[in-house]
Amino acid sequence: MEKEQIIIDCDPGSDDALAIILALHSEKIDLKAVCSVTGNGALDTTTRNGCNILSLCGRKDIPLYRGSGAALDEKIPHTVSAFGDDGLGGYADTILSDKIEERMHAVDFLVEYVNDHPGEITLFAIGPCTNVAKAIRRSKEFAGNLKRLIIMGGSKYTGNMSPVAEYNFWADSQAAHEVLQAGIKEVVMIGLDVTNKIAMDCNMREILRILDTRLSTFVYNITKEGLDDNWRSRRKAVSPMHDVLTVAYFIEPSILKLKPAYIDVVTKGIAKGQSIVDINGHWNNGDCNALYAYEVDVEEFYRLFFKTVFGEDITEIR
Ligand code: BDR
Ligand code: CA
Repeated sequence: MEKEQIIIDCDPGSDDALAIILALHSEKIDLKAVCSVTGNGALDTTTRNGCNILSLCGRKDIPLYRGSGAALDEKIPHTVSAFGDDGLGGYADTILSDKIEERMHAVDFLVEYVNDHPGEITLFAIGPCTNVAKAIRRSKEFAGNLKRLIIMGGSKYTGNMSPVAEYNFWADSQAAHEVLQAGIKEVVMIGLDVTNKIAMDCNMREILRILDTRLSTFVYNITKEGLDDNWRSRRKAVSPMHDVLTVAYFIEPSILKLKPAYIDVVTKGIAKGQSIVDINGHWNNGDCNALYAYEVDVEEFYRLFFKTVFGEDITEIR
């Protein structure tokens, strides 16, 4: 099977870690590089976590490029993560490695690599969109040369930073706006409307503990703080898994139902970071700039995640 080339731009982050781990275990994916951005921690934290996650999976050979430490407006977004101070639920220290980041800046890398491989690269934006927006500003060809952009961000019906704003779009709303308006051929917006539904319950986490491998234990550990945070703030005993759904969708597109939509992001005021999702471009002369994910097959997601990462058939062991 010919593998598809992808790049993950992220702010690891427990759920970013899961996305990287899933990508590295899929026979459909050739992960070319990881880029870091501020988000689930300061840039030093997300960059170091990215290097260590690649090492944990035995892929020190995959380059990690350090990206933007602040949003387009040069302000550092709020980085208090649901995954704790180290972004990995207090377990970042358990995967320390000697892998070091590349010298090139993430934005320079993105521009160079995508423009050298026109129409070949699927880019995942699973943190604030700053690096991607800067690449679009830097190079006229960049947006047109992407094969596809899969974003974890936004939502139509809910928020996690305000009643209407999701974190990645909120943290750099100008960047999210510019990325959505850039004319990229295929943009898939996978937001809270579906990612909230795959939050991991305690039974599912328990399977990770029972599997008792280094990787399953790591995933068990890094999903603990998210679970506790959800319990404290919402009385829900589930752990956030947002970003991993982007990679699961790429591996198995039938996991999500999508509708064409015209999507834009509010950049100022009380609704800053809100994504306005106009299904079928009803209010925009029928023009659409993205695909909006409105439904997810949760069972199928967990079947795929456990099978791909741990080789276990969840339908048999549950
Ligand atoms: C998004 O914000 C970050 O905290 C997560 O990693 C995810 O990308 C969810 O709103
Ligand atoms: Ca993220």
